[in-house]
Amino acid sequence: MHLTSDLDLTPEALRAVLDLAHEVKRTPARFSKTLAGQYVTLLFEKPSLRTRLTFELATKQLGGDAVASIGPIAEREPVKDVARNLDRWTQGIVARVFSQTTIEELAKWSKVPVINALSDLYHPCQALADVQTMEERFGALDGLKLAFVGDGNNVAHSLMLTAGRLGMHVAVAAPENYQPNPEIIAEASKFAEITITTDPREAVEGASVVYTDVWASMGQESEAAERTRIFAPYQVNEGLFAKARPNAIFLHCLPAKRGLEVTDAVMESPRSAIFDEAENRLHAQKALLMMLLK
Ligand code: CP
Ligand code: NVA
Repeated sequence: MHLTSDLDLTPEALRAVLDLAHEVKRTPARFSKTLAGQYVTLLFEKPSLRTRLTFELATKQLGGDAVASIGPIAEREPVKDVARNLDRWTQGIVARVFSQTTIEELAKWSKVPVINALSDLYHPCQALADVQTMEERFGALDGLKLAFVGDGNNVAHSLMLTAGRLGMHVAVAAPENYQPNPEIIAEASKFAEITITTDPREAVEGASVVYTDVWASMGQESEAAERTRIFAPYQVNEGLFAKARPNAIFLHCLPAKRGLEVTDAVMESPRSAIFDEAENRLHAQKALLMMLLK
């Protein structure tokens, strides 16, 4: 089984991964030999702090080990050949790629599980840690509202699919031309209440979670100036955050650009859960590795 997009996990598998993530966070020592003798490949076409290090730590803390290759995946040989080398040596492939098609090609040819560690379309590992963090704060998420304010791309897509499947109402506020992919909106709308708007206040009104991400993702650096202008009304600041419920929390996948998509005051506020969220990358990915590799 692969995790190419959030929907590769059935609702039952999503629940099982989350239960295991809470469990491994409570009692990590119990799981310290689970991946003994197993190796994971980390293939990263883009930079990473959290994802790469937490996958490496997760594998090691479960008794296995990880090897990494950084840089373009298909520069020297086709993706299908890369996949059929790695699956002879290691028991899982974690890949951060520019294009979702690279993840799908790896998954098509690999005999071992392939995990999407961020593509242009999805960031499913991030969404798992995010819903783990929300469950820690709120318990069951059914009926709660999550407001995503900013660029409707990979992180927003995965939140719509993963938080939506746990019963959350997901409202995305993004400028025209930066709204989520219509096919992913249609898919998420089959099982979740999804609101797409250009109005950040409408999205945040009544929300229990306010979430944002950078305005220029990795690979979009040349668009940064134009995006800074277009996204300016979408900054999560104290004024906007005040429209959420009084017990609302703030989440951000990180890295953040303080003063652009979010203010320093919101990042550092007592209602910011960003470092719990970052910590949970480790626990959620341990659960995922145990589920997929065992
Ligand atoms: N949130 C996240 O994926 O962080 P990195 O880019 O540092 O891995
Ligand atoms: N949307 C961002 C997320 C980084 C974790 C990017 O793709 O760069």
